[in-house]
Amino acid sequence: MSDFNVVTATQEPELDTAMKVIYQWNYDSEVDELRNLYVKATEAQWISNRDIAWDKPIDMERFAATPLGASIAIDQSSYWKSLPRETQWELTRRLASFRLSNFLHGEQGALMVAAQLVNAVPHTDAKFYAATQTMDEARHVEAFARYIEKLDEIRPIAPALKHILDGTLQTDDWMKKLVGMQIVVEGLALYSFRDMRNLTEEPLLKELLTYIARDESRHHAYGVQYISRCVPCLNEAQRTELEDFALEAARTLIDQRNQQTFFSSVLALWAEAGIDPVEMLNSVRNEREELTQDLGRGRRLGPVQGFVIPTLKRCGLLSERVAKHYHEFLKANFGTRILGDDVQEFLRHIPDLPEDTAAWVLGELH
Ligand SMILES: [Fe+2]
Ligand SMILES: [Fe+2]
Repeated sequence: MSDFNVVTATQEPELDTAMKVIYQWNYDSEVDELRNLYVKATEAQWISNRDIAWDKPIDMERFAATPLGASIAIDQSSYWKSLPRETQWELTRRLASFRLSNFLHGEQGALMVAAQLVNAVPHTDAKFYAATQTMDEARHVEAFARYIEKLDEIRPIAPALKHILDGTLQTDDWMKKLVGMQIVVEGLALYSFRDMRNLTEEPLLKELLTYIARDESRHHAYGVQYISRCVPCLNEAQRTELEDFALEAARTLIDQRNQQTFFSSVLALWAEAGIDPVEMLNSVRNEREELTQDLGRGRRLGPVQGFVIPTLKRCGLLSERVAKHYHEFLKANFGTRILGDDVQEFLRHIPDLPEDTAAWVLGELH
């Protein structure tokens, strides 16, 4: 007998979502830039099984430079350096797969939101484009899952990310879906993919992230081009609502007060890898200054200031009102030393969005 079942052991309870479906009887192109993006997307399709060298084993030696998303460089601590190479690798691969698992789960969310957008957006060009994105996201889910299984095992989703995905799937407003997914979640993801792609020296991971980041830069472009067309048609109240939706999403994902579960997951990974958490924490605490200094030297603006806020600005969703809120929550998380006290000053330091995101994503970090 087959063990196929319509209810699987690994699925979540159903989430009720609201989505208004729109038929569109005009099949001609109305938004040229979206039609162009759709054509570009169909031309850029790749096949994970054919185009990625999956036979290659993961190169442990070259994995070391891969950023693991920590706010402190624990691999520079004297305790870490005293560990046998085998233990260092055991921890590295767990931390990496923990981070990649959240990329993977985010991709599943993107897959479902993109499929919703096919139904919910009113313009034919936008429906066509969302259909190509749905295909892209399925491929990203496939490829990340395959890489993580080669590296370690798939770890559970971070609660903050799950919260944003739920909210974006649940809203009945397609513009909020676009802002939540294409601008905030994908903006943050694109920034992290770029970081990881440029810094990792592990060849298979670099190859994978090159393909994925190229697709993601198109997804981001879809959000920017579509939303910046929509915003001028909104009244003040609608625009405020959209701004607040973006703000809440960014706040939830970045806020370190939501990071308690993150920290306990990381501690559990240390223990799994055979590391004494007390010794590691002591070492990190004693050497805190040097460890953060190292990180500080290469410090850039970070994903919200460096990418999400510039995107919102380009879309017409960064009023002075909402900028104040961004400044406040970033200050609460990263301190006045980095953010300054003055909101005008903060606004002056928001960089322009790169003209060509695809080139930016695959270019050198600076
Ligand atoms: Fe994706
Ligand atoms: Fe995407």
